[in-house]
Order: sequence, then structure tokens, then C-alpha cells
Amino acid sequence: MTAMKLPRRFFQPLATGAPAPFRDLPVRLERMIHFVPPHNDKVRARVPELARQVDVVLGNLEDAVPADQKLNARKGFIAMAKDADFARHGTGLWTRVNALNSPWLLDDLIEIVGEVGDRLDVVMVPKVEGPWDIHYVDQLLAQLEARAGVGKPILIHAILETAEGVANVDAIACASPRMHGMSLGPADLAASRGMKTTRVGGGHPDYRVLADPVAGGAERASAQQDLWHYTIARMVDACQANGIKAFYGPFGDFSDAAACEAQFRNAFLMGCAGAWTLHPSQVAVAKRVFAPDPAEVAFASRILAAMPDGTGAVMLDGKMQDDATWKQANVIVNLAKLVAA
Ligand code: GLV
Ligand code: MG
Repeated sequence: MTAMKLPRRFFQPLATGAPAPFRDLPVRLERMIHFVPPHNDKVRARVPELARQVDVVLGNLEDAVPADQKLNARKGFIAMAKDADFARHGTGLWTRVNALNSPWLLDDLIEIVGEVGDRLDVVMVPKVEGPWDIHYVDQLLAQLEARAGVGKPILIHAILETAEGVANVDAIACASPRMHGMSLGPADLAASRGMKTTRVGGGHPDYRVLADPVAGGAERASAQQDLWHYTIARMVDACQANGIKAFYGPFGDFSDAAACEAQFRNAFLMGCAGAWTLHPSQVAVAKRVFAPDPAEVAFASRILAAMPDGTGAVMLDGKMQDDATWKQANVIVNLAKLVAA
């Protein structure tokens, strides 16, 4: 069997009948990529139920799986892929394989594609440094799919978590027609950059800007800044320019739901489609955040109603609307439809 021809994009263009499509609508809602440890029998037993509650279930084989459990995690993932009917619930099935320079990656792909390639939607590849890493996985997948007779191409999702990866983000985003998207990996990226933190995502109380001195010596205001703004912006631009999706990665402080929600919301407002959920409590947070605010949807709908052909300028509540706000309104309304579907 020969390697199959891949679709350039997995997005559908907008069907508005308006001027040329400017922005693509994700076919699949992927508000959360829910991580499960496949070597843990108790967690694995809950996966069929979980498949009804989340948009994507990901079997994690990489970091957080001890070295002596790597083979069990791989076996557990294969069992979990066979046991639950993800497709029936419209739930995505992904795996995060081990890093390319690890002793496990090659067998992760050979065994998983060979056994359950037809059920697997996306392979998440960690520590991607440049397009060469994607080319390697792309070719390997083509061989393994052809050998196993897999009927639909398995997509690739890169984790952006090294300084070199960030430097090459544009080339990674367009490295293969299999590219599904990219996630920020703040923990590894912090280490790779030499940041002085010990956290998995989120902010730091000392990363702040102090306001100018105030007359009379009154206390100066200061505000904490977002450590991840720059990388998220680069990642979103690289992804959107290539028709793929950007995601915030993990938020490791399970005791701070408010900070998790704030970090997810920043990513959502900046263009991310979803985030990773590492703990069941984060699923509800992601569902809440990665869906547009009803008040925004109502206002965006008014913009669309006021500008039926998407051109010109109108005033709504004292605010000017034109072709560009019409496009923004479409993003919001289309996402709301997808969430409601
Ligand atoms: C995720 O893999 C991270 O390193 O943050
Ligand atoms: Mg990592």
C-alpha cells in the first residue's frame, strides 16, 4: 500500500457568502486536551466515562511517566484505545509520545500505529526544535500507516517548549500537511530558557512592573505581568498564518482554579482554541473559558445583522463597526455555534 494523500487543512472555510473567507472555523471543538496516565489501571478504567465528558482524551507516555513504567504506559494506551468508543462520542483520541531522542519514541509509534492507528487522531510530539523533527515523524507515520493499512492520516501536534523551538516556530507550523496545531509547554520552556521558576505554567509574584514614584511618598502601585504573553503571541501568529490551531498547555497548580482560569482566559482571548487539562477539576474551567461570553455573542450577532454583506461602516452603541469588526464578530458567532452544536 502506498502512503496516502493528505488534506492541506482540517478546517472548513466559513460559509457566509460574504467576501473571501478570511478565517477558518475549526471543525472540531477542542477546548481541552485531557491528559491521562495510561499505566495507571484505576484511571484507565474511568476512560470510557471520561470520553463522554471531554473534547479530547490524550494518553500521556512522556514526562510524568516514570522510566520503568514507559512500556506499561504504551500497552495501557493501546488497551485504552481499543476499549473506549471515542468516535461515537465525537471525542478525539491523542497520545503524547516520548521525545525523539529518547529510547522509546520509535517503538511508541511502531506499536501504537500498528495496533490502533485507525483510532488515533493526533500524535503530540514533545520538545520539537525545528521542522526537521516534524519531517521525521511525518515520514515515519507515512510508512507505518501504509504498513498497517490505516485509512485516515494521523495528524501531528507539536509542543513548543524549547528556546530553539520558539526561534523556529514559523517553520514548525508549516513543516507538514499533517500539522494539527501547537501547544505552549511552559515548564520545559522555562528550563530551556533559564527562567528562575519552579512552576508548570501560570505567573510569578515577582514578575511585575512598578508604577512611577508618587508625590508624597505614597505606596507605588505594581502589577504582575504575564510571563507567557510573548510566546503565546508568536505561537498564535505562526499557527493562524498556517491554518492550524494554537493551545495553551498545562497549569500545574491544581489548588488555584482562579489562576488557572485567568491563564486560560488570556490564551483564549489571544487566539488559542483550548488548553491541556491535567486534573478533572480543570475540565469545567476549560469548558467555561474556551467558549465565547454570551454578551459578546449577542453583540457580535448585532454586528452581523447590521452589516449583512460584511462591508461598510455602522454605529452600534456609539462604537464604529466595519469590515474588520464584522470579521471578528464572525469568529465569535461561529465558535458559539460550534459550542452549541
Ligand atoms: C509541558 O510539557 C511542559 O513542559 O510545560
Ligand atoms: Mg514538557
